Amino acid sequence: MIIILQKKTLTKMTKDLKKMISAVPALEMSVLPTTVHRLDRLSELLGTDIHCKRDDLTGFAFGGNKVRKLDYLVKDALLKGADSLVTFGSNQSNWCRMTSVAGAVNELEVFLVLEGSRPDKPTANLLLDHMAGARVTHVESTTDDAVEKAARQLADDLAREGRKPYYMAVGGSNGRGSLGYVRAFLEVLEHEEKHQMRFDNIIVASGSAGTQAGLVAGKLLSGWPGKITGITVSRDRVTQANRILKIVQETLEILQVSVEESRIRQAIVTNDDYLGEGYRINTQECLEAIDIFIKKEGIFLDEVYTGKAAAGLIGLARAGTITPHERTLFFHTGGNVQLFE
Ligand SMILES: Cc1ncc(COP(=O)(O)O)c(C=O)c1O
Repeated sequence: MIIILQKKTLTKMTKDLKKMISAVPALEMSVLPTTVHRLDRLSELLGTDIHCKRDDLTGFAFGGNKVRKLDYLVKDALLKGADSLVTFGSNQSNWCRMTSVAGAVNELEVFLVLEGSRPDKPTANLLLDHMAGARVTHVESTTDDAVEKAARQLADDLAREGRKPYYMAVGGSNGRGSLGYVRAFLEVLEHEEKHQMRFDNIIVASGSAGTQAGLVAGKLLSGWPGKITGITVSRDRVTQANRILKIVQETLEILQVSVEESRIRQAIVTNDDYLGEGYRINTQECLEAIDIFIKKEGIFLDEVYTGKAAAGLIGLARAGTITPHERTLFFHTGGNVQLFE
């Protein structure tokens, strides 16, 4: 069944979106909805109206955005009769930490392929992977490709041994994982309706791209008029936009909705001005944003994702791109464990 989107009132679209997303099987590991609150002191500092969606407080395995994706992915794995999860990421991957714990609580063995040499003493996310009982292989390579290849090989080897591995893309960023962020977008719409207000902007960190893709799919499905800006943390804005497009298309396909590519592209806004020299390479603006969030709001951000996203928020407000009359929702996607590396 293909549904062509029609013009409907936002309230009606919220209801339709809820129905659509509720029809997809998912676990309930996340504690939802996450809180939204106004950042009063930051708003005063920047002279514009800023609110925060606290996805750092998703309530599972130190919180963060990945558990929303895992609610859909692990459910799919269980429905397909998998006995294990296979995925990959960096040595300090938040995604791999959450996968390790999601596997443990669902009695699925977790195999991680991590980029980087095995440290003498595991810390932060890597320590938590071990505590959750994940089987960890380290690959000393600087390219994503080699690590991904090793993970795919591992899944193939397990299948040959008669196991039933469920392979997951890095960051859980595929059409199914992104459903978690369609659901998050629905929470934003419900918050707006409950409080009779609208956000003009959403600002979010954009890495493996599934988080922004889910939000964009939510925008398209609801007809929400605001702008979603992904602050890229690992790629230039054009490459990132193409990646997001592909995932949005996969997500819409699962939901059996057809949207023209040009309309999807229009809804994808990526900004690489705060990336600096690349993934996991810190910037002055990121460190300043972390400092401001701690001292103004009592909120900790990480140096890889949310610090750069907050640098984008602050930079865009200072530049007047986000105007004093606009209302902006900053998605705090978690990642604080990184501070304990
Ligand atoms: C804390 C945190 N925020 C944001 C992101 C970016 O989300 P995505 O990879 O879906 O773009 C990640 C991804 O690893 C993350 O760990």
